[in-house]
Amino acid sequence: QLREHIEAVRAFSAETPEAIEAFRIKYLGKKGLLNTFFQELKNIPNDQKKDFGQAVNELKVAATEKIATLREGLQAGEPSENLFGDLTRPGEPLLLGARHPVSIVRNQIIDIFSSIGFTVSEGPEIEDDWHNFTALNLPEHHPARDMQDTFFIQTDPDILLRTHTSSVQVRYMENHTPPIRTISPGRVYRNEAISARSHCFFHQVEGLYIDKGVSFADLKQTLQYFTTALFGKSKIRLRPSYFPFTEPSAEVDVYWGLESETDYRMTKGTGWLEIMGCGMVDPNVLDNCGIDSREYSGFAFGMGIDRIALLLYQVSDIRLLSENDLRFLKQFKSIV
Ligand code: PHE
Repeated sequence: QLREHIEAVRAFSAETPEAIEAFRIKYLGKKGLLNTFFQELKNIPNDQKKDFGQAVNELKVAATEKIATLREGLQAGEPSENLFGDLTRPGEPLLLGARHPVSIVRNQIIDIFSSIGFTVSEGPEIEDDWHNFTALNLPEHHPARDMQDTFFIQTDPDILLRTHTSSVQVRYMENHTPPIRTISPGRVYRNEAISARSHCFFHQVEGLYIDKGVSFADLKQTLQYFTTALFGKSKIRLRPSYFPFTEPSAEVDVYWGLESETDYRMTKGTGWLEIMGCGMVDPNVLDNCGIDSREYSGFAFGMGIDRIALLLYQVSDIRLLSENDLRFLKQFKSIV
């Protein structure tokens, strides 16, 4: 009987790890044949003990060697027979990226305005004079053009890097009829000295709302809804200001202080901080874009995402946002 087993073991062949494992358990497992035979040994008459013992050993060696060769064969085998490689090998560490703080804040802003019916619109970063300036009530030689130092594309004074995403709103008005509710996030460029507070490119979200009978009260309420959603319970104030494309115009400050009833995000620093510009769209702008200003009115606003990201994450230098320093970027890993 033992001889038969030895022959069977030598002739055995298997293609799958499961079959090899079943074979191993059958012979070498705790309740396997080998242990059974070893236990048998004490019942064997003395004169046969030696032969029997040798045969059991032979069976053990044969089974152990067979398993080793079969396993080796599996590893060297065709990839189709071994799709997953060595399943006992430790895994490679998986490198997960992190979202950029500007993207995080942009997405939050988009979420908030989406929830009150604003669509998202985009346009080109290389613009023409009409969409960036002239349509927005900034004709050639208008002094207010200097408010936004512009990068021109060398050979053509008509082509420039957009200085704000108001250009997208011009395009949107040219191609849509009211009611219009849209926000335009995007990168903008200004020829400014680079410092901790300002950069030659940054990101904006501008918003536009046009319909019959839109009032300044609608603007203020929309902005209050927005700052509460983004910063927590917050106070805002509107200061009179000037933009060529809105009339009246205002600057929006949010109160950033320990005393105010705000959530955990507003802990450091105190006082009123300017976060955006806004106003009622100038009737000239509506007419320039093919919307009848006798029938419709609307409001617009624009904010810098980078500045808001610096505030929310208490970062003191805007340059960190574009230096691609992994030590900085990795800190946003767990933030969706
Ligand atoms: N376009 C202005 C800027 O870039 C912001 C703004 C938008 C102001 C809409 C008023 C209304 O500074």
